[in-house]
Amino acid sequence: MEFLRTRFSLSHNIPFRARFCEQIKRSYQKGSRCFSSGQSEPFFVTTPIFYVNAEPHIGHIYTAVIADSSARFHRLIGNPVTFSTGTDEHGLKIQQAAMCANKEPGRFCDHVSGLFKTALKNCEISYTDYIRTTESRHKENVHSFWEILSEKGYIYKGKYEGWYCTADEAFVAEDQTTLVKLSNGQEQRVSTESNRPVEWFSEENYLFKLSKLREELRSWLKSGPVIQPLRHYNLVKSWLDQELIDLSVSRPNTRLSWGIPVPGDSSQTIYVWLDALLNYMTVAKHSQSEMNIWPPSVHVIGKDILKFHGIYWPAFLLAAGFEPPKSLLVHGHWLVDEQKMSKTTGNVVSPQSCINLVTATGLRYFLMHEGVPASDGNFSIKRMVRIVNSDLADGIGNLVSRCCGKNLNPLQTRLGVSRSSFESCGSPGSDLLSLLERTPDIVHDEYKQWNFYKGIDQVMALVRGANGFFQTMEPWKLKKEGQLDKLNATMAVTMETARVVGTLLQPIVPSYSERLLDKLGVPQENRSWDFARLRWTTTETALGSQQAVLFPRIKSE
Ligand code: MSP
Repeated sequence: MEFLRTRFSLSHNIPFRARFCEQIKRSYQKGSRCFSSGQSEPFFVTTPIFYVNAEPHIGHIYTAVIADSSARFHRLIGNPVTFSTGTDEHGLKIQQAAMCANKEPGRFCDHVSGLFKTALKNCEISYTDYIRTTESRHKENVHSFWEILSEKGYIYKGKYEGWYCTADEAFVAEDQTTLVKLSNGQEQRVSTESNRPVEWFSEENYLFKLSKLREELRSWLKSGPVIQPLRHYNLVKSWLDQELIDLSVSRPNTRLSWGIPVPGDSSQTIYVWLDALLNYMTVAKHSQSEMNIWPPSVHVIGKDILKFHGIYWPAFLLAAGFEPPKSLLVHGHWLVDEQKMSKTTGNVVSPQSCINLVTATGLRYFLMHEGVPASDGNFSIKRMVRIVNSDLADGIGNLVSRCCGKNLNPLQTRLGVSRSSFESCGSPGSDLLSLLERTPDIVHDEYKQWNFYKGIDQVMALVRGANGFFQTMEPWKLKKEGQLDKLNATMAVTMETARVVGTLLQPIVPSYSERLLDKLGVPQENRSWDFARLRWTTTETALGSQQAVLFPRIKSE
């Protein structure tokens, strides 16, 4: 625990890298680990860094929205958050993509990295650091890390022979490849897992002693539920039961020039995955946080890159004496017609086309409502429109427009609410009260466990409860009959529920929630998670002057 409290900043006179390494090594040797994240603990969440060989698609945005919702949730519960994302710009795949585009690789990367930055901004992703592997701060970090591995005897020069899949930038064992017949009658060997072509390589390069790390990796796995969902944890465990062979971590410069040279041997270029994984450490080293943020709290990743994060990454860290990540959150893929969305398959859905149709709020809501980390999801525009219309325009939209409309709320105020407001509404009031008392804690636990879809379901159950309550109370009748106390109680209870709903949805649909809370006149300082629970108040608050329509219905179903 001492380690977690250690402050480190860039302004100290001991070289920063040395101190960073020292602190982390010391804490690791002591066996200090902390796998929980409670109040006021630094929360360091990451997305994978995106390959710049292709433009952003919905699959990339999904990873980023999960990480963003986590980051926003942790800010709301009071944790200082570091949230990194960025682009993975080296390697054969990028070198070839730049060549095909007839561009110099650096300029090619600048362009596509810029597209990712814009797409993430348009999706309201609140990252604190955008890292590019072509930055000099990153190259320095990769060099220092290589030197540590080398000093510790984990790197040796040898001959590597085997199959390599450039599209996956991965080495593939012979029994993980299949021979397929192409339409021109020729045979092509592909990776069985990704169905992408492999090539035979036989060359001199540097190897990493992965085979020595099996037991340490096993202890990391045993230290807690470090990989979620469980099936992915079990998968990594089963990989550790198979033979772990040493990993090639460099390529001859003649084959791969677009990358970081091996320190002291510029005839070799560092393997792109070692380079890419170290982005997380570059971010930590350059963090402005007052606290030590290592190890990362969670790496959000798709299931296709589990081996790199569940085996190679912790192995590199353990070998160098650093603490491995506290957890990996692995999600499934978005499919179109049962096939993974990818540039190679040619079935990508662009985030901007979705934003144009349903706004960033609609896209984020759909991804988080439909995305179940443990399984793949089918992407359907029709379904996206149906869901955002029914939940955001109708469900929550109706709730807000009903209680903020001038007809039933001529003074345009949010009334104070108390237990007696609920009691005076009879059993519909007490049913809603118990739902309202239960929901925030359940949502808290679901969000904390990255079960965003379950949290959203709970919020929507509350919305349905409140709409049902409003319908049963028939406030328009109460107004006609002059039953003002009951009318006021109905309005107060409904508005309090809408306030709680708006507060709970902030991690998922931040700008929509902001509009909702603005409309209800909720001050900025009253929007943290502490305010997600029911609050008794006697004061009346003026409603915001903006219109009550939070999300106009999308016409094209
Ligand atoms: N550059 C590597 C990651 C290096 S991290 C040290 C990479 N990049 S990627 O651009 O191909 O993928 C980035 C993320 O997007 C991965 O988590 C991947 O799983 C995710 N997705 C890519 N296509 C996807 C879907 N069709 N559906 C959901 N997510 C998928 O891998």
